[in-house]
Amino acid sequence: MENKTKRPFQVLPKDVRPTNYALSLQPDLELFNFLGNVDIDVQVKCVTSQVVMNSVDIDIISATYTPGSAIDGETATELTATGINYQNEDEKVTLTFSSALALGNGKLRIDYTGELNDKMKGFYRSKYRTPDGETRYAAVTHLEPSYARSVLPCWDEPAIKVTFDVTLVVPEGRLALSNMNETGRRPCANKPGLVEVSFARTPIMSTYLLAAVVGEYDFVEGRTSDGTHVRVFTPLGKADHGHFALEVAIKTIPFYTQYFDVPYPLPKIDLIAIADFSVGAMENWGLVTYRELALLVDPKSSSSEARQSVALVVGHELAHQWFGNLVTMEWWTHLWLNEGFATWIEYLCVDHCFQDFHIWTQFVAKDHSRALDSDGLENSHPVEVEVGNPGEVNEIFDAISYSKGASIIRMLHAFIGDAAFRKGLHLYLTKFEYRNAATEDLWACLEESSGQPVAAIMRTWTTQLGYPVLHVSDEQQGEDRILNITQEKFCAGGTFKGDSPTWMVPITISTGDNPSEVRMTVLLEKQSTRVTIPGLQANQWVKLNSGTVGFYRTCYSQPMLKALIPAIRDQSLPPCDRLSIQDDLIALSCAGVVSAADVLRVMEAYMNEPDFTVWMSLNVNVSSIAVLLINTDCFSSFQSYVVDLFTPVGKRLGWEAITGEGHLDAMLRTTVLDRLGRYGHRPTLAEAKRRFSDHVEGRRTLPVDMRRPVYIAVLRHGDASVMDTILKMFRETDELEEKHRIQMVLGAASSSELLQRALDFSLSEEVRSQDTVFVIASVAGQSRLGMGMAWDFVRENWMELNGRYQGTSMLGHLVWTAGNFASEERALEVKAFFDTHPVPSAERAVQQAMENIRLNAAWLERDGAALKAFLEERSTRGGDTSAVCA
Ligand code: BES
Ligand code: ZN
Repeated sequence: MENKTKRPFQVLPKDVRPTNYALSLQPDLELFNFLGNVDIDVQVKCVTSQVVMNSVDIDIISATYTPGSAIDGETATELTATGINYQNEDEKVTLTFSSALALGNGKLRIDYTGELNDKMKGFYRSKYRTPDGETRYAAVTHLEPSYARSVLPCWDEPAIKVTFDVTLVVPEGRLALSNMNETGRRPCANKPGLVEVSFARTPIMSTYLLAAVVGEYDFVEGRTSDGTHVRVFTPLGKADHGHFALEVAIKTIPFYTQYFDVPYPLPKIDLIAIADFSVGAMENWGLVTYRELALLVDPKSSSSEARQSVALVVGHELAHQWFGNLVTMEWWTHLWLNEGFATWIEYLCVDHCFQDFHIWTQFVAKDHSRALDSDGLENSHPVEVEVGNPGEVNEIFDAISYSKGASIIRMLHAFIGDAAFRKGLHLYLTKFEYRNAATEDLWACLEESSGQPVAAIMRTWTTQLGYPVLHVSDEQQGEDRILNITQEKFCAGGTFKGDSPTWMVPITISTGDNPSEVRMTVLLEKQSTRVTIPGLQANQWVKLNSGTVGFYRTCYSQPMLKALIPAIRDQSLPPCDRLSIQDDLIALSCAGVVSAADVLRVMEAYMNEPDFTVWMSLNVNVSSIAVLLINTDCFSSFQSYVVDLFTPVGKRLGWEAITGEGHLDAMLRTTVLDRLGRYGHRPTLAEAKRRFSDHVEGRRTLPVDMRRPVYIAVLRHGDASVMDTILKMFRETDELEEKHRIQMVLGAASSSELLQRALDFSLSEEVRSQDTVFVIASVAGQSRLGMGMAWDFVRENWMELNGRYQGTSMLGHLVWTAGNFASEERALEVKAFFDTHPVPSAERAVQQAMENIRLNAAWLERDGAALKAFLEERSTRGGDTSAVCA
C-alpha cells in the first residue's frame, strides 16, 4: 500500500464554491432512471471560465451560468457550457464556458439524468412486496462517503457545507421524504399522474447527509418531551414493528439534548426501514435510513438480541445528528470522530434506557476486544489516517475507526470524569456548529473543560498505530505493595523488536480488599514506572486496568496472575475484570508470551461463571483456539474440554425460560446451547432434535431465543431432510428475523453437498444482495470443510461478487472468508488470488487476512504439541468425553 499516491487533502479547486442547491429529482420507478435538475447558488472567488465539480455516473444534458448581476435584472448574459468533460477516474466533471465567469455570486443550472441503480449506493432502487404480493420498487439514497456525486453534480467534500431546497417529483399515491419537513405538494401541470413535493430548506450541511426516499410505507409517530416530531416508517402492514424504535428514539433525543446541552435543530426526524440496504444504518440529517432488521422489532417474535441491537443502532444514528451532522469532520481522516464517538455514546444511551442490559460490560466483549485484536496487527492503521480516493475512504469504516475510536473515548471519559467530559462536548458542539472540526479541536475543548493534558495524552492514541501491553510484577515492602510496570507495543504475533513507541496510559488499579472500587489511577508517561500501593497486605491481589477502561493489554507476572485466579472462581472480581483476564491471555498466547495450554487451564476457573458477557467473550476465544485445532487430531478432545466447560451453566439455565428471568439470561441460554449443540453434547442434541420436530410439526413453537441453537444443532448433526425443512421454513415465513436467522445458520451443515447448497442459495434470487455475504460467511465460519468451500466459492464467483459490491465495504467481509485459515500455503493462495484480482476498497482487508492466517499458522506450530498434551492428559484424567458425539 505504501507506493500508492495519496491525493491532497482537498481535491476540488477553490475558485468557485456553492452555497445552496435547489435540487429536483424525478425517479422513474418502472424504467429505473431519474431526471435531475439543480440550481446552484455559487460564489466565484477567482475569475475562471471553468467549473470543476464532482460527478460520476450521471449524464449532463445542459449547464448554464447566470451571473448575479443578471439575476438582479441587469443585462449580463446567461452563459451556456460549451464543454462538458468528465474525468471519470477522478469522479469529476469540468464545465467550460465561452467566457470567464465574473467574480461574485451567480447561479449554475444543470439538467441531467441518471440510473436508479441496483447497487445500494447513490440513488438506487429497493425491491419490496406489497401485502397483496405485488413486487414494486422504492427509490432511496445512500450517499456516504462519496456517492452524492452520483445523484447530482456537486462539491462532494464534507467541509463544503451548503443548504438544500429539495423537490421530489413522484407518482401520486407514493410517499416522498427528505431531510426536512414537507412544505408543499401540487400536481405537475405538464406531467399527468405526478406530483411535485417540496421540502423546507435544510440547515447548512455536508453533501453526504442529503437524503430522499420515494415509496410506500406505514408509520407510527410521536413527539419527544422537547417537541420534536418523530416517525418510524415500516413496510406496509407492519406499523406495529416500529413501536420499539419509536420508544427508543423518543427517549434518546431528549437524553442527547440534555447530555450535550444543545437542542436537536430540525423540526422532525424520520427513521425508515429500507428493504435493500448495504450497511446497517445511515444518519442522514432528519431522515435516518436503516436496514429493516436494524430498526424493526416484531412485538410477537423478536429475540432479546434483536431488541438490543435495534436500541444500539437507533442510539448510534441519533447521536450523529449532533456529532457528525451539526459538527462534521474536516476530512475523512477524522472519520473516527464521527464513528468512534457515536459508537461510544450509543452504549451510554442504551445504558440510560435499559439498565438491565448491562451494556457497558458488553462493550468490553464486543468493541474493546475487537479493537485490540484488530489493532494488534501490523496491517492496522492509526485512528487518524491519511485517505484520498473513495476506495480508501470506504476502507476505514472499520474496527479502528469505530471500536478503537469508541474505546479511547471511553478511556478518556473515565480519566477526566463525566462532568468535564460533558462540558467539553458542549463547548465543541457549540463552537463548531454548522462547521467542521478535526481531532485536535475536540481535544482542545476537552482540555479546556478538564484542565488535563488531553491533547498530549490522546495524540499518542490517535496518531500511532497499535497500543501497548503493560508488563507488571509486584513485590511486598512492609505494609506497602510496589508495582513495576513497563510498556511495550503489543504485537499480535510476537514481541516488539527495537525501540518501542510509548503511549500516555491512564492506569486504573484495584485490589483484593475492595475489588469493585478503583483504588488509584496513575498516568504512565514513560516506558516504565514504579507505583506504590500503600497499606496492602501480602495476601491481596492487584488488578490493573480495573473496569477494563484502558486500551491496552496486561501481562502479569506468574505470581500476580496466580493470585487473581481464586477471585475469578469466586466472582469477587467484577465481570469486566474477569472478562479481560482471559481475553488478554489468549492474545498473549497468540503472541507467544503465554502457552495456549495454560490459557485453557485458566479458563477452567470460569466453570461457574454466571455472567452472560463473560461467557460471550469465552465463547469467542474458544473459537480462536478451535480455528487452530480444527485441522488436528485433537479437535474432538478439545470439543470435550469445551463441552465440560459449558455444561454446568447449561444445566443451571435449562431449556425453559424461568418466569421473571432477565434479558441477559435469555441471551446466555442462546450462547450456551449454541456451543453445546454445535459441539455435539448428547443431551443437548437430543433435546434440540425433540424440540425441532415439535416445532416443525406444530406441537410446540420454539421460543425465539432458542431457535438459533436448535437449528444449528439439528443441521450440524442432521441430513439433507433437515436442510430441506429449514429452507422450507425460510420460504414460508414472512418474519424478517427468522429469515435472517436461517440465512446465518445454514453454514452449520456438515456435508459438502449441503454446504454447497447453502453457498448456491447465497447467490440465488431468494437471498437479497445485502445478505449474500453473510450466508457465505456463515459457511466459512462454522467448519473446516465450509472454510475451504466458501473460499473456493468466493474465487469462482468473483466476477459476480465484485460486480455487485464494487467500491463498498462488503468486499472486505468477503475477503475475510479466507482469514481463518492456519497455513502458509493458504496465505500464499490468498495473495496469489488478490494479486490478480485487486480490490481497491479492501486492500487492507487482504493484508490483514493474510496476516491473520500466518498468525494462526505460527501459533499452531508453537503451541500445537502442548495443547495436544494438555487435552490428552485431561481426557485420561477423565473429562466427560462420553457426553460428546463423534
Ligand atoms: N455512517 C455510518 C454508515 C456508513 C457505514 C456509511 C459504512 C458508509 C459506509 C453509520 O452511522 C453507521 O455507523 N452505521 C453502522 C451501524 C452502527 C450501529 C454501528 C453500520 O452500518 O454498520
Ligand atoms: Zn455511525
